[in-house]
Amino acid sequence: MIAAIQDLHDFVGQTVTLQGWLYNKRDSSKVAFLVVRDGTGLCQCVVSKTPETEGLFQDARRLSQETSLRVTGVVRADERQTGGYELAVSGLEVVGPAEDYPITPKAHGIEFLMKHRHLHFRSQRQWAILRVRHTLIDAIRGFFNGHGYTLIDTPIFAPAAGEGAQTLFEVDYFGDPVYLAQTGQLYLESACMAFGKVYCFGPTFRAEKSKTRRHLTEFWMVEPEVAFADLEAIVDIAEDFICSIVGRVLRDHGDDLEFLGREAASLEAMVKPFYRITYSEAAELLHSNKARDLLESDLETKQARITELGEAITAKEAEGSGKGVKQWKRDKLAAEVIGHREELEEVETEVRNIPRHIELAAGFEWGRDLGGSDETIISRLHDRPVFVTHYPHDVKSFYMKKNVDDGRLCNNFDMLAPEGYGEIIGGSQREDDPVALLKRIEHEKLDPNDYAWYLDLRRYGTVPHSGFGLGVERTLAWLCGLKHIRETIPFPRMLGKFYP
Ligand code: 4AD
Ligand code: MG
Repeated sequence: MIAAIQDLHDFVGQTVTLQGWLYNKRDSSKVAFLVVRDGTGLCQCVVSKTPETEGLFQDARRLSQETSLRVTGVVRADERQTGGYELAVSGLEVVGPAEDYPITPKAHGIEFLMKHRHLHFRSQRQWAILRVRHTLIDAIRGFFNGHGYTLIDTPIFAPAAGEGAQTLFEVDYFGDPVYLAQTGQLYLESACMAFGKVYCFGPTFRAEKSKTRRHLTEFWMVEPEVAFADLEAIVDIAEDFICSIVGRVLRDHGDDLEFLGREAASLEAMVKPFYRITYSEAAELLHSNKARDLLESDLETKQARITELGEAITAKEAEGSGKGVKQWKRDKLAAEVIGHREELEEVETEVRNIPRHIELAAGFEWGRDLGGSDETIISRLHDRPVFVTHYPHDVKSFYMKKNVDDGRLCNNFDMLAPEGYGEIIGGSQREDDPVALLKRIEHEKLDPNDYAWYLDLRRYGTVPHSGFGLGVERTLAWLCGLKHIRETIPFPRMLGKFYP
């Protein structure tokens, strides 16, 4: 009987066959422990050496990491083991050998791992992250499907900019230039006039020359669009939406989050109401002592951390090169040193940047867009997500609705995730007045001919309408507590990175 590791609870005392890969192995002269993974979990398989199992035992000892195999044995409950069950092995069949698997249990630098991404996500950590991603995507679809939205797939080849001309990837479309979609929004606006509430969900492309922990050139975005909704209504929807997806991930992935070292408590605190502040209030916050104090105390903490890491590296290197140190211990120390060095590099960069971030915040001029470091400060000064509304129109997209009370502003919002994660949603009410929209298109030096169809929507039964876009990868980084966005997508595409 073939069984999946996640179903072993149904088979205690019975003989089953697991099909999977050898994740790890330990052995002594009397017993071999094979940790097998099958995509649903990990299970320790025990091969004891007896006169009858001599051959089996020798075979087990020879197995190398990532060999694919079928293991047969009796299921035993054992709470101490990963997954809570183990297998007393009576049979072993190699399906495919694996020689010199490049990712060993020793540590590797992140560059190396990203180059081996095709193998990297066999590791437990990547497995956990991508499983949460799967559920996040399901929860996103579930929310919209369950609230009366119709899915509308929008095109990837777009004849014009949807978000601003600076970040377009141009493609030769049989001699004509077209662009990879930066957003499905404009098409979705046309669909919302037919279906009322719609959403699109697909890959999105930005030729951003930004090498940051938040930027991908290809990412997945879900975008709802709602007819007859104003700014306040769409902010309410975004709030419910976030609560719903966070709740689902917490419910289904407690174990994975724990494995990733993510404290459930910080996500459990994501309850309504979130904070709502205006852009002008955000600017004041950046000028405040609170912002300065936060960064100055960061500087102290991080400088202390640099000293600590330096000392740890020296100590571990000395210990590892000592005489008589066992190989496994050497490997363990070397792995820790690699981890420390990576962290050191990150912390040193942060320390170099903090003075500039202090300056940027203190000198923030009304009228500028919030930068990454500004968002980090605002988001860290709040314990729940923050909606920042009413930005100056000149730093935002052409399609945003001009504010009636203050013509300098638009009815838009960004939602900043807490703990410094920054913007994960951007949205707005849309300009529904054809004259105002045309003015804006011309002001941005976009070609009105490219947007003739889009202007039509304002000519034939225009209504107030609003929508937003949520980036899956930034959201996942926040939910899993990851520092960098690169682990949140199976095959990340970033500035200078497109292999494998
Ligand atoms: O704020 P953005 O650019 O908004 C739009 O594209 C709107 N058309 C959405 C709409 O109103 N329908 O992007 C929305 C979200 C961001 O908040 C962020 O989560 C994600 O998309 N995002 C990125 N994620 C990873 N890498 C990048 N380079 C991203 N750019 C945006
Ligand atoms: Mg944005």
